[in-house]
Amino acid sequence: MKMQTLNDLMVDVARDMLDAEKQLAKALPKMAKAASHPELRQAFTKHLEETKVHVERMAQVLEALGHAARGKKCKAMEGLIEEGKEVLEMEAAPETRDAALIAAAQKVEHYEIAGYGTLSTWANTLGLPEVKKLLGDTLAEEKTTDGLLTELAESIVNVEAAAT
Ligand SMILES: [Fe+2]
Repeated sequence: MKMQTLNDLMVDVARDMLDAEKQLAKALPKMAKAASHPELRQAFTKHLEETKVHVERMAQVLEALGHAARGKKCKAMEGLIEEGKEVLEMEAAPETRDAALIAAAQKVEHYEIAGYGTLSTWANTLGLPEVKKLLGDTLAEEKTTDGLLTELAESIVNVEAAAT
């Protein structure tokens, strides 16, 4: 696809994010299963439900931009999930694995925050308030998840992992 305009570029990045969200929706149940601490497991399960909504919202964004809700392979998410799989497979104490799961999940959240931040700014530039609203709602949930993971790490998981 030729990148003629900012709109073209926005469609390309939106398709990347749609695929990224779909990949994450498949990975999160495995991360939830691997988590030992109930609060961490619950955080992953909650974010899975949000991620399903993020998939829907990205489809709406693409449709609002006049394109089919078709994703484009997100290589970055593929790599992040691949690294996450190493955490699932490694031999580790449960508390240490939890700390590693949080680290992997926060890399994912930061990737998404960067993507949605960029898309949201472009939606503003292009004068697309409805699209900006959809992106902003998702961006807010990614930031909340990231904050929750930091809180869990600092208050419980890292402390337990350090004591193992
Ligand atoms: Fe998301």
